[in-house]
Amino acid sequence: MLTETHTTRQVPYVDIVRQHALLKGELLEAVSRVLDHGQFVLGPEVEQFERKIAHYCGARHAVGLNSGTDALVLGLRALGVGPGDEVLTPPNSFVATTSAIRIVGATPVFVDAGCDMNINVELIRDRITPRTRAILPVHLTGRPAAMRRVMTIARGHGLSVIEDAAQAIGAGLDGQHVGTFGDCGCFSLHPLKTLNACGDGGVLVTNRDDLAQRVRLMRNLGLESRENCVEWSGNSRLDTIQAAMLLVKMEHLDGWAAARRKNACFYRDALADIEGLELPSDNAGEFAVYHTFIVQTDRRDELKDYLHSRGIGTAIHYPRPIHLQDAAVSLGFGAGSFPVAERQSRRILSLPIYPELDNEQLDYVASCVRAFFRK
Ligand SMILES: Cc1ncc(COP(=O)(O)O)c(C=O)c1O
Repeated sequence: MLTETHTTRQVPYVDIVRQHALLKGELLEAVSRVLDHGQFVLGPEVEQFERKIAHYCGARHAVGLNSGTDALVLGLRALGVGPGDEVLTPPNSFVATTSAIRIVGATPVFVDAGCDMNINVELIRDRITPRTRAILPVHLTGRPAAMRRVMTIARGHGLSVIEDAAQAIGAGLDGQHVGTFGDCGCFSLHPLKTLNACGDGGVLVTNRDDLAQRVRLMRNLGLESRENCVEWSGNSRLDTIQAAMLLVKMEHLDGWAAARRKNACFYRDALADIEGLELPSDNAGEFAVYHTFIVQTDRRDELKDYLHSRGIGTAIHYPRPIHLQDAAVSLGFGAGSFPVAERQSRRILSLPIYPELDNEQLDYVASCVRAFFRK
């Protein structure tokens, strides 16, 4: 039974320091091993990490990269997506999803979100033109997009599929991991992600030998050997020190995902009957990992301020849809172009959901949300 508490506690939106305090000894040992062998660039830990991630996701290959953004860029490039091509993608993601499309010179064609905040599959077919080359769905909030339906459409139209799984490591559909449905899947290892580097990092997974080979080449300046560059490209390598720390953290990944799911379950039970508050649903067959736990309400800003005044940090993912960003002006969209994504952007609020939250903190957040709606 929830108890209303009037004592103000501190519940930050994220608490990375707490996670690292618990792992500090192991992480420092891992760093120390790299300092001892000195192979800082593409050292043995990078390959070990790639093998572990590929095995974890059930993919043939994983390629360690410097960020989730570069995973998307190199994935698109490896698929041959470039100028003149259109890529279907939702407008309610982190800007990196669309940036990657623009960086390779292609044109993003937005498809509005559905009520699950993922791409609305019903709307995809209407947006396909002779120039469409690929679909780039996002597993937003760590919840899998409807990949089987996306794949059916893609196959029917000969389109490539690149999954933005930046927020969704460990998520899946009927036992299959996100990132393995399409041609490739891209994960971010940014410090705020469930599997997080102590800095930037990313990884691309694929079952296609040709894509893995090309991305490996492109992450390393297109060098097939020390002497020969076969393709102009940049430096997108994952650091060995990051890989060494990620290997430590990988041991905790399933536990962290389970803790996030447990916290989501707690909120869902504790907040279920509040009128005016929508909670994310958990559908059969979907394994969501709750990178974020997003509630929706018409009183979002008021709720945010109220929780802040009680020491509770929240966030908005994301307050301005991509098609309304200044950088998107040339794409020609405006307010009203994607009504579902726009409405959600005004109503969404992410509650703290990280694995290290204790029961008292969860109880406190839930009781404050309840108190707000009683006002
Ligand atoms: C949905 C989505 N796509 C892409 C990215 C980009 O990842 P990174 O920050 O590692 O470049 C992020 C990270 O925030 C993200 O949330």
